[in-house]
Amino acid sequence: MMRDQAVFQSTSRVTQPQFWGALPARWDSDTDDTLVCCHVRQETHDVKSFFFRAPAERAFVFEPGQFITLELDIDGETINRCYTISSPPTRPHTISITVKRVPGGKVSNWLHDNLQPGSSVRVLGPSGEFTCARHPARKFLFLSAGSGVTPLMSMSRAHHELGEDSDIVFVHSARTPDDIIFARELDLIASNQTNFRTAFVCERVGARTSWPGVTGFLTLPLLKLIAPDFLEREVFTCGPAPYMKAVRHLLDEGGFDRKQYHEESFSFETISEVAAQLATAHVADALHGTLSENVVGFAPAPAPVETKFKVSFAKSNREIECGSGQHVLDAAKKAGVRLAASCTQGMCGTCKVKLVSGEVEMKHAGGIRQREIDQGMVLLCCSKPKTDLVVDK
Ligand code: FES
Repeated sequence: MMRDQAVFQSTSRVTQPQFWGALPARWDSDTDDTLVCCHVRQETHDVKSFFFRAPAERAFVFEPGQFITLELDIDGETINRCYTISSPPTRPHTISITVKRVPGGKVSNWLHDNLQPGSSVRVLGPSGEFTCARHPARKFLFLSAGSGVTPLMSMSRAHHELGEDSDIVFVHSARTPDDIIFARELDLIASNQTNFRTAFVCERVGARTSWPGVTGFLTLPLLKLIAPDFLEREVFTCGPAPYMKAVRHLLDEGGFDRKQYHEESFSFETISEVAAQLATAHVADALHGTLSENVVGFAPAPAPVETKFKVSFAKSNREIECGSGQHVLDAAKKAGVRLAASCTQGMCGTCKVKLVSGEVEMKHAGGIRQREIDQGMVLLCCSKPKTDLVVDK
């Protein structure tokens, strides 16, 4: 409460922006990681968009499709969650995320119930490689389901606002027509841009008496009807893991070249629950597959010769063994050491710990700041030991 009051007092510029004219300096979460919520918009009955500004005038520079990580203090616990950015980089003064309320989801419910204009949050990023900016193409096919629409909306908005003439077909799946997020804005983009087409696929009509669109699920025959030239398109997919699995299957069935395929999922609330239930390295590996971009199959790599190192957890007084080719988090889970983790991909920062001694090889994906690395912090989910380690946990 005290913190929010302080923000209200010190951020009059947030409600009275002074930055018309020259673009302000770039926002950098490494030096200035607090953002202030400036607007909340109800998108559907259970989805809200939250817009943020930097307290000092700053411009947000990112690639459409990237994500930010929110570091939230909820009930005395610090919880990190990644959310893809729904706003486009062509609107640099604000950044937005769009969040669906997940039944039982601690973070999404907290955001819906607590985050309002004037609230401040700590944010890390932007990061991520799921972006059309790195895969330029003449024709795109965007496939999304549920709140997986957000990164593709950022890409669509950016294309629209830059006047790009790429040919985009955007197929979005939702439970009912009333669950389609950004329906009106997508229709507006389609009406403004001749090369932009949308198709909404709803499981059922829901509360409406009629629905002129398609009901059912996305199938290969339906995709061929919507985008007969889908084999020529660069495909970006985002949605829950089962949806993306189904998409991969139907594209394979249609003879699609996976080199033109990119996917991402941030169903961390669901993933954490599954991972917690099963808690094995195999499950984590399988979930990695649903989170990776450029999924082209999972051929097993030849097993490298491993050196075993000792990992000591100073606070819990536990000691485990971890192979040089193994991530410390996986080894800890196997040994029954409970550690906080969410994405298991080096993105969200949940597994961040202080390394008291030793050396690791860390390949993170934006879940840690450079200054934290300089202070000896590491992410255990993407760190392999190079020596014996002592961890402050
Ligand atoms: Fe997300 Fe490690 S669990 S960065």
